[in-house]
Amino acid sequence: MENNKAGGSRKVVVDVNNVFKSYYLGREEVPILKGVNFQVFEGDFVAIVGPSGSGKSTLMNLLGCLDRPTSGIIAVNGQDVNQLDDNGLANLRGMEIGFIFQQFNLVPRLSAYENVMLPTYASKKRHIDYPKKAKELLKMVGLEERMRHKPTELSGGQSQRVAIARSLINEPAILLADEPTGNLDSKTSSEVMGYFRELNKNGATIIMITHNQELAVQTDRIIAIHDGQIKSDTQATEFVRHIKEEQMTVMEHLAAHETCSK
Ligand SMILES: Nc1ncnc2c1ncn2[C@@H]1O[C@H](COP(=O)(O)OP(=O)(O)OP(=O)(O)O)[C@@H](O)[C@H]1O
Ligand SMILES: [Mg+2]
Repeated sequence: MENNKAGGSRKVVVDVNNVFKSYYLGREEVPILKGVNFQVFEGDFVAIVGPSGSGKSTLMNLLGCLDRPTSGIIAVNGQDVNQLDDNGLANLRGMEIGFIFQQFNLVPRLSAYENVMLPTYASKKRHIDYPKKAKELLKMVGLEERMRHKPTELSGGQSQRVAIARSLINEPAILLADEPTGNLDSKTSSEVMGYFRELNKNGATIIMITHNQELAVQTDRIIAIHDGQIKSDTQATEFVRHIKEEQMTVMEHLAAHETCSK
């Protein structure tokens, strides 16, 4: 818990403690995350930015309980994910976390509607009327005419919108979005950002990876990752002030600070 400005205390929903993650190519260890620490509080809207290959998706997969750290602790909603068995992990993932993958991960032989319904087969929240909700979400992302289409019959942007609808079907407390607007035009991107802001206003905690500077600065807080480490963790307003002063883009700003810190 931490005390906020209003004097109340806020719950830590994601706690990342000295996390390292390596991949192994044969016997060779390839370190990707190199000691990452941060906390996300209930109701936060956080953007994660950083160059390609810096470890953002690797980190997101750990937060989404899709993979385990090599060392260090990740706690989601107070539960150390290393202490959970596969059932416990699946439960946490299904009930509490909505995940939007960078590559959509839709099931090719299922329709848009069936893809949105997929997470509900494993985890059910009793108060949700799932068929009604799935249709509402598909309508919200502008796909009411495409519910019966399969992923191969949808464009990249439409597939991404199905993935967004699917991530929201279980009304997750935490939404993890890996480049949710990477395949969308700017109008649809701002609409998606609009849904996220609405969700956040209603209490959801959102962590979003993005290369889009305009979207990043609409969040509360920006965590910049470089080569598997956190380079800065600032209020979005402060981040904007820095880049305005320096008359730089987010990526130029990060590159400049990378050079300075060496
Ligand atoms: N399963 C894997 N096995 C081996 N190396 C991997 C694996 N997954 C990712 N990597 C490597 O880890 C590094 C970080 O990858 P990651 O996908 O986390 O980057 P990213 O910051 O999300 O990049 P992008 O912005 O391009 O999506 C890359 O160098 C990548 O090649
Ligand atoms: Mg990635």
